[in-house]
Amino acid sequence: MCGIICYIGKQNSVPILIEGLKRLEYRGYDSAGIASLDSESNNVLFVKSVGKVSELEKKVKSHKFKGDYGIAHTRWATHGKPTESNAHPHTDCSKKLFLIHNGIIENYEVLKRELEKKGHRFVSDTDTEVLAHLIEDNLDGNFEDAVRKSLGMVEGTFGIAVIHRDFPRKIIVARRGSPLIIGVGEGEYLAASDVNAFIRYTNRVIYLNDDEMALLNDDNIVITDLNLNRISKEPETIDWSVEGDDKKGFKHFMLKEIYEQPKTVENAIRGRLIEGEGISKLGGLEPVIEKIMNLKKLTFVSCGTSFYAGLYGKYIFERLTDLDVYVDYASEFRYRNLKLSEYDGVMAISQSGETADTLAALREAKRKGALVLGLVNVVGSTIAKETDAGVYCHAGPEIGVASTKIFVSQCVILNLIALLIGRRKGLSIFDGMNLIREIKKLPEHIKTILENGNVIRDIARKYLSFKDFLYIGRHLNYPVAMEGALKLKEISYVHAEGYPAGEMKHGPISLIDENFPTVAIATNGFTYEKIVSNIQEIKARNGKVIAIATEGNTEIEKIVDDIIFVPETIDILQPILNVIPLQLFAYYFADFKGCDIDKPRNLAKSVTVE
Ligand code: G6P
Repeated sequence: MCGIICYIGKQNSVPILIEGLKRLEYRGYDSAGIASLDSESNNVLFVKSVGKVSELEKKVKSHKFKGDYGIAHTRWATHGKPTESNAHPHTDCSKKLFLIHNGIIENYEVLKRELEKKGHRFVSDTDTEVLAHLIEDNLDGNFEDAVRKSLGMVEGTFGIAVIHRDFPRKIIVARRGSPLIIGVGEGEYLAASDVNAFIRYTNRVIYLNDDEMALLNDDNIVITDLNLNRISKEPETIDWSVEGDDKKGFKHFMLKEIYEQPKTVENAIRGRLIEGEGISKLGGLEPVIEKIMNLKKLTFVSCGTSFYAGLYGKYIFERLTDLDVYVDYASEFRYRNLKLSEYDGVMAISQSGETADTLAALREAKRKGALVLGLVNVVGSTIAKETDAGVYCHAGPEIGVASTKIFVSQCVILNLIALLIGRRKGLSIFDGMNLIREIKKLPEHIKTILENGNVIRDIARKYLSFKDFLYIGRHLNYPVAMEGALKLKEISYVHAEGYPAGEMKHGPISLIDENFPTVAIATNGFTYEKIVSNIQEIKARNGKVIAIATEGNTEIEKIVDDIIFVPETIDILQPILNVIPLQLFAYYFADFKGCDIDKPRNLAKSVTVE
């Protein structure tokens, strides 16, 4: 949450910072701000604005300012409302220091009281402003020293960047718990919360670790720990495309990402399947494969959509491996008193690789001796770096805040991981080969569903007046029902509840009437008859039903109000197809309502606070 971008070099920093902010906007979009300095005149452009980065951009353009270094920030409010005074950068009393921050200063109230006693005057409700004044208070001729000392006094998490007019052409960045990556260009440096913000300028990066600080200036970079001990780090070259940063003619990134899914699946499986042997090959897990084979228990930890991928993974692992599999919300797992050992595996599933709760769950598992694994999309993210081993999605950037293509990617890769483990134990070559053949057909099946987009759009239009929806699915399709409901509520702000269909009679059925429609996942499989019974129960209470059903099922057409057909695959892969119409239904529903689909209110793509 909150996005940071910095630039120092010879170019005009202002457009670079604004462009970087636009790429970081998924991290927060309630307000934004910039401080850019011109080293010759020492003049500063200091502008903040409520709302999206485009609002800030309008203001900045009117200044026609050029500055060769600067910092900028897009905010997701934690302390204080999204107002201009609460937006970053924050300054000190002298108004010479400018600071941006991602994270939370937990002891800010105590520090603020002490600073106020010393005469510091605060203008915002934020925790961040305290750090700006604290650095001012500790400043005694040496800027780096003042920053280091101040960071030693704060509790909580931070990714910060700070500049000072009395110490020109220096940007200090530091991190603890919030991501910060430095980009090394030709005669210029950039730093950001995410490589996407600067990947157009350089793919040579240095990842800061917790409690590390870097001083960026004209022609070099000095990295130290918070005791100012020098740390030597060479830039790594990363393979991360800029693809994904334009909508390619689609109205929204979310729609583009939904339509990208055939390719997402191809990217997830490329070079990873050996059909003749019915096995998968995952280089990232090879170093720990023996440890994995010795595991007695595996727990998936994750949040949001990634949690539902884990929930699906549980069924897949139970089917293909002999492991005991559990799934837990990372925010719950991190505070449980679990007895873990080297025979426990904990797999963090995360698109961003930065989700605070998932990271904390992972660290807790590691502390207790478990083998920690990752299934992550963003290359080089904190979770990817802190796991013992893992698998990347290779799905490219996902910009829409509501996750779509990454869910599908995660589900496919969970099959690959389960296959890898299963085939070393009881799973037959025949079952392995069959699974691989069906996985390879997924892109074509997804294309067929996407070609049916207009039908789904018409159904979404028909249901626009409804304010509540129930989503039901059973067994493998229960996670899909949950994910479908999450999609709808995230982007259309309409109440939607996902339920395992079997639980319907234990509560939700009391809600059903002609105003409370149900989306039922009713594709072929061994629970099909059961879900049909649930549908009948809903119809008996005048509830409307939209069914997701297998192509050619003419029977179900007779009992439901609307139907979306999907191609048939083997039951363990069917949820990967079933989720696609639910994504499209949510998308069109929200679009007809005129919602801000790529940036839904109150949400952020990367949740780096607890
Ligand atoms: C936020 C996003 C969701 C995402 C969840 C977990 O809530 O809005 O789309 O599923 O975080 O994020 P992760 O990056 O860990 O998958």
